[in-house]
Amino acid sequence: MVSNRLPFVFRRAPGGRWENQPGSGGLVSALLPVLRHRGGTWIGWPGAGETGADLADAVTAAGAESGFALAPVMLTAAEVRSFYQGFANEVIWPLFHDMQSLCNFDPAYWSSYKEVNRRFAEVVMANSGVHDFLWIHDYHLMNVAAELRNLGCRSKVAFFLHIPFPPPDVFLYLPWRQALLNALLQYELLGFQTSRDRRNFIQCARLLAGEEVAVHGKGQVVTLATGARTVRVGHFPISIDYNTFMRQAATAEVAQRAAELHRLLPRRKLILGIDRLDYTKGILHRLLAFKTALTRYPELHERISLIQVVVPSRVDIPQYHDLKTRIEQLVGEINGGIVRPGGWVPVWYVFGSLNRIDLLAYYRAADIALITPFKDGMNLVAKEYCASSIEEECVLILSEFAGAAAQLNRGALLVNPYDIEGVADTIQRAYTMSEAERRARMRRMRRSIREYDIFWWVDSFLRAAIARNLDAFPLPENYVAEALTDYVPI
Ligand code: UDP
Ligand code: G6P
Repeated sequence: MVSNRLPFVFRRAPGGRWENQPGSGGLVSALLPVLRHRGGTWIGWPGAGETGADLADAVTAAGAESGFALAPVMLTAAEVRSFYQGFANEVIWPLFHDMQSLCNFDPAYWSSYKEVNRRFAEVVMANSGVHDFLWIHDYHLMNVAAELRNLGCRSKVAFFLHIPFPPPDVFLYLPWRQALLNALLQYELLGFQTSRDRRNFIQCARLLAGEEVAVHGKGQVVTLATGARTVRVGHFPISIDYNTFMRQAATAEVAQRAAELHRLLPRRKLILGIDRLDYTKGILHRLLAFKTALTRYPELHERISLIQVVVPSRVDIPQYHDLKTRIEQLVGEINGGIVRPGGWVPVWYVFGSLNRIDLLAYYRAADIALITPFKDGMNLVAKEYCASSIEEECVLILSEFAGAAAQLNRGALLVNPYDIEGVADTIQRAYTMSEAERRARMRRMRRSIREYDIFWWVDSFLRAAIARNLDAFPLPENYVAEALTDYVPI
């Protein structure tokens, strides 16, 4: 397993010792249970802007404690700037989320991307044998298969993209589109989150491959043939360890913490937003929608509060830093604009990382989750919320531009995150929804997430990589109907 980040972020403590904490974001949350369950080696960057033998020792020791092997790829501070913050997060991240105006197409970033991907490939070669299955993850590492082939690697190499793949008219802005597309075609299996991402990729391949592209098959996995190369291309909606979430959400400790939250914010319904600090998550529009709901529906005053948790992320990139300031200003404006003698606070804002118990307590305490990204590969917070909703009485409001909308469209209230008044009206609808409707919707979503959990995801991906014949590739019953509806907003 190879990803830019290892599951733990290492920092030097004041006394000089290395300490680590779990990394945040969907990739780490999804893959950790897989490695714990199946074992293997996870190769990635330990998250520190320095290198050194003592860091490598600390990484190895953390691996030994977790029950699988960890192998570090060290990055210098300059590489963190140009490869991680630069190419990955100032070029690919905004472009693949359809926010091309935020891209900084600095040619030096591309050079650094190629160099660092080559280094990852070298570490993979040093830590693997010819019979190992190599699974590369996410947008930081799209060149790794090409580099592995240059180094003479003959193992099977597959790739999963955790973020969306853009349509051709957006992908074509990329100055290095040809090289990147060719690099992706070096994998034996390419996995995307939704059928829409896969379709976008195939359309880009048709435009840029330089030779005729033939696509065979109609199912979850198809083959794409171009010149001498054949690549399998599938869509595999990533998921969560449903049973563990459900079990942990039911513990007395979590129930107590959730009850404490209701004591602190009494006699009202709680609406929850949890996001990494990121401009793709639509946090400012969401706050405006909440404010609009309070203006349009004064009866909601003192009857609802929004808990917005923002998890620190990429704060060294100016756009992220500025976003934090703007969120805090807007929260101040909303709370300052509506002052009540009883002490009702409309928005309860938390900036920080949550431990598992607090995360689950927020999920359990919340009557409504408000998840409104402008664009999101999947959005695991939505699935975790449903899994933790053990009383099955809660409502999920979900952006139609999150990958999860393809799976949860029959249970969630889908919204266009840009439509501030539409989201405001949906908040009011969720607030007044009958118990019977809430239960029916939540049950439907929980059933689907339980069936297509993270272990289903990993098994179906591995089967797609090794199956001899894709025609015989078994699809679970009601797979297309329930999990992979190609949801297209009207
Ligand atoms: N999460 C986290 N730290 C926190 C709160 C949440 O790591 O303090 C997790 C959350 O449980 C979820 C992930 O971060 O698994 C967010 O994944 P999602 O797919 O929603 O979005 P991403 O951050 O990957 O864009
Ligand atoms: C998203 C990406 C992951 C990334 C995570 C956190 O989930 O798909 O690859 O690890 O965000 O971002 P960070 O930049 O802190 O790794």
